[in-house]
Parts: sequence; C-alpha cells; structure tokens
Amino acid sequence: MRTVYLNGEYMPENEAHVSIFDRGFLMADGVYEVTSVLGGKLIDFDGHAVRLQRSLDELDMKSPISKEDLLEVHRELVRANGIEEGMIYLQITRGAPGDRDFVFPDPETTDPTIVLFTQNKPGLADSPAAKKGMKVISIDDIRWGRRDIKTVQLLYPSMGKMMAKKAGADDAWMIEDGYVTEGTSNNAYIVKGNKIITRALSNDILHGITRAAVLRFAKEAQMEVEERNFTIDEAKEADEAFITSASTFVMPVVQIDDAVLGEGVPGRVAPRLREIYLDESLKAAV
Ligand code: PDD
Repeated sequence: MRTVYLNGEYMPENEAHVSIFDRGFLMADGVYEVTSVLGGKLIDFDGHAVRLQRSLDELDMKSPISKEDLLEVHRELVRANGIEEGMIYLQITRGAPGDRDFVFPDPETTDPTIVLFTQNKPGLADSPAAKKGMKVISIDDIRWGRRDIKTVQLLYPSMGKMMAKKAGADDAWMIEDGYVTEGTSNNAYIVKGNKIITRALSNDILHGITRAAVLRFAKEAQMEVEERNFTIDEAKEADEAFITSASTFVMPVVQIDDAVLGEGVPGRVAPRLREIYLDESLKAAV
C-alpha cells in the first residue's frame, strides 16, 4: 500500500478520492510531470518544476504549490515509500467546480486538484531493454496542436502504444507531413555518422527535460547535434536511432517498421549517451 499525496495531505492510496466533477476526469483539463528517482534521489527535478509551471501558465491554471514545497512532497513520498529506483507521477487539474461546464470555473472559488504518487521500478537504470534496443512502428500524428503543453490528454498516445504492441513492437513514432514528430511518450533521434539529429523545439513536440540534458551532454562530449526535421525514410536509413524520456533515459531503437538499423543491435552513440546521462544526472540528483 503506497502513501500518496492529495491536495496537501499524505494518505494511503485507498483513501485518496477525487470528485466525479473533477475537470481532469470530465475534460482532461490537467497537466502532469513524471520525474525519475535513482539512488533514492530526484533526477532533473528543477527542469520538471519549470516545465510544470509553463504548462500551467499556458492553460491559465493556478499552481496550488510552491516549487520548494513541491520538492519537499517529492522527497517525502520517496522516503515514505522507500523508493530507490522508480518514478514520481504528479498531476494538477483545474479542480472540481461541482458540475460539468465547458467554461473554466472561477479560480477564486474552485481550487486545483493536485495528486502525486510513486511508482517503484527496481532495475530502471540497468534495464535489459537498453542492451537489446527497441522496435518502433510509424503511425500518423493526429494529436492536437499544443504538444508542448504536458496535458493528460493521452488517449491517442495510448492507442499508439497499443498499435505498436499489436504489431509486435515496443513503441510508435508519430509522423506529420512525412516528418517524425516524437514517440508516444518520448523524444525521437537518429544518428548519422557522428551526428545526432532530432526535431527542433516548437509547439509540435513536448520539450523533453531529458532531451535538454542529453543534448547538453552530447555537445560537452564534442558530439555534433543537428536540430532539424527528419523523415521516417531518413530514419530507416540512419546508422542508429534512440529515444529519450524521464522513464527510459536514453533507449536505443534498432528497428523502425520493417527496417533494421545497422546490425540490429544498439550501436556506439546511444549506449554512450545513456551512460553519460545516467552518470551526470546522478551526480546532479537532489
Ligand atoms: N512522457 N514527448 C512526449 C509526448 C512525452 O510524453 C514525453 C514524456 C517526452 C519526454 O519528456 P521528458 O524527457 O521530459 O520525460 C517527450 C512521460 C515520461 C510520460 O508520459 O510518462
């Protein structure tokens, strides 16, 4: 039984209840963050807190908690649940105004709902999947136009994962106008020679916190980084490919649809980036 956090209080998970009128439930009117825990410490907490505030601002939503208190809640949940490796999920919704209405409730009278819970994942860093590499399929990107806001509208990404599963793959890369946007829950990269290529930031993709760190470490390690669109055909011809996210760190991709990349096993660049990312972020963990 986990200890979770709901609206200012810690409680057992089976005692945490949210209203049927909550706009997160009725309208997917909410934002979220996933922060990983390694060695009992938080990876990239600051980046996640800053992006959370940006998501809230873009949706005109009030934050129910300060950054300092948010850090404290994360740490307390890690402690209370004895998490060494895993994730902390955080969600803030526009709250429960007591009825269903498309119009936003008055923030003076309706408080946001805030929920945090832990996910225990022993072996997250030393993942067998990272040694084997993953297979992705390509699917159309039919999501809305503000993918830079981390909202809980995750039905299509969830359907994308199911399409991948049915096809015997691990995930799906989404395609818009012939170009790869991102994975269902991660940013997408290809490698050509020593060059790492990934789509530039815009409203078309989530501004990954892991992406920012990995690109910084890559540049520090004198690797070449090119932020530009790439097509799915270019990806299929690439030397390597990989994804990044808070829950997978850096994960090699060895097959895209029917195209096997290189020898069909992780190459040189992605595993090295994973190692650097894990080392450096552990050093900076709080
Ligand atoms: N997903 N793109 C999308 C669409 C995502 O949902 C995510 C994160 C990322 C990577 O962002 P970051 O590096 O900040 O985790 C990119 C989280 C992990 C999830 O939904 O579980």
